[in-house]
Amino acid sequence: MMSKNPKTYLDYAATTPLDPRVFDVMGPFFTSKYGNPSSVHTFGQQAEAAVETARESLAEFLNCSPMEVVFTSCGSESDNLALRGAAFAARQIRKANHILISLVEHHAISHTAEQLSNVFGFDLEYLPVNEYGQVTGESVKERLREDTAVVSIMFANNEIGSINPIREIGEICRGKNIPFHTDAVQAAAHLAIDTSTLNVDLLSLGAHKLYGPKGIGALYIRQGTPILTTQTGGGQENNFRAGTSNVAFIVGQAEAFRLSKEEQLNNHAHLIPLRDRLIKEVLQIIPDVKLTGHPTDRLPNHASFVFKNVGGNELLMMLDNAGFACSSGSACKTGNPEPSEVLNAIGLSRDWGLGSLRVTLGKYTKDEDISRFIEILPQLISDNRKMRGF
Ligand SMILES: Cc1ncc(COP(=O)(O)O)c(C=O)c1O
Repeated sequence: MMSKNPKTYLDYAATTPLDPRVFDVMGPFFTSKYGNPSSVHTFGQQAEAAVETARESLAEFLNCSPMEVVFTSCGSESDNLALRGAAFAARQIRKANHILISLVEHHAISHTAEQLSNVFGFDLEYLPVNEYGQVTGESVKERLREDTAVVSIMFANNEIGSINPIREIGEICRGKNIPFHTDAVQAAAHLAIDTSTLNVDLLSLGAHKLYGPKGIGALYIRQGTPILTTQTGGGQENNFRAGTSNVAFIVGQAEAFRLSKEEQLNNHAHLIPLRDRLIKEVLQIIPDVKLTGHPTDRLPNHASFVFKNVGGNELLMMLDNAGFACSSGSACKTGNPEPSEVLNAIGLSRDWGLGSLRVTLGKYTKDEDISRFIEILPQLISDNRKMRGF
């Protein structure tokens, strides 16, 4: 049920509002510039030019060649293409059958990997994480095998915000010639993504975490990385992904990434003090609370907690009624009353893991939003515990 109270949005890791400047550049591609980029005539050429300009712009964001950018329909599709495409190509070319992912991947990776294992017979192995949900280079080194088809480790975690040592892990994989994919859907909104130094072969992006439209994404495929396309049809996207290009969204995505990079430092200056204040005060004023994820090595907009003996889903509803939109983990998990795989992986017991709260900030978050949030949270936690008999 929707509450009637005005809402303060504190769920920017789930999605972000579209930046009006992005909306403006998309507009003409719905109305006057509606050609199919594959058509030969002037309308088609106009659309094709827009798609290729967008590709160049995204390549600039990633510091790669435009040929290495493939447009997809979302971050999940990018993850699917990367993992399936690399796994099947490695099986075909060198009979590789082993897939290595971390225990805290987004479902777009973990469920894809499970299907590759359960239906297609790949040997799936999970990398453990430390108490902050991070993978170490050492543990990757220990598990890499000659027949490893692909390694996939997320850049930054959506639920608990921790950042992984991607460059170091990539170096280890590269040393063994094993394709390395990272899901940078959350990270790209806040961190520099320079593919010339990151040692990654495949990297997933999505536009809606950084004020771009929902339903558009991209996959960086380092030139020469073996990938078996998973969507066959026309030769679009360099034969990596068939389907008529979603021109307006491709143009909007490029603008969102361009603006994000241009404004990244300003956004950090705005977000980090707000995040740090929120974390500090919640830890100070609420009994039986823990920060989840790394205390400093975390996304600049991301605060996440667990509260002992609290029902996370009920807390979300109480917050919603009080005018705050937050999340208990990833948006996709809301509604599931069990602790998430991520919270289990970092070793939290059920009495802690059930009471998770993710508060993610954005460029429209104001200092007074945090003040009001901190003012109401202790009472809601206390009411929630009482309702549960604690
Ligand atoms: C880390 C991560 N990967 C992948 C996705 C999926 O992206 P999309 O919503 O564009 O499919 C998300 C979205 O929440 C995410 O946080």
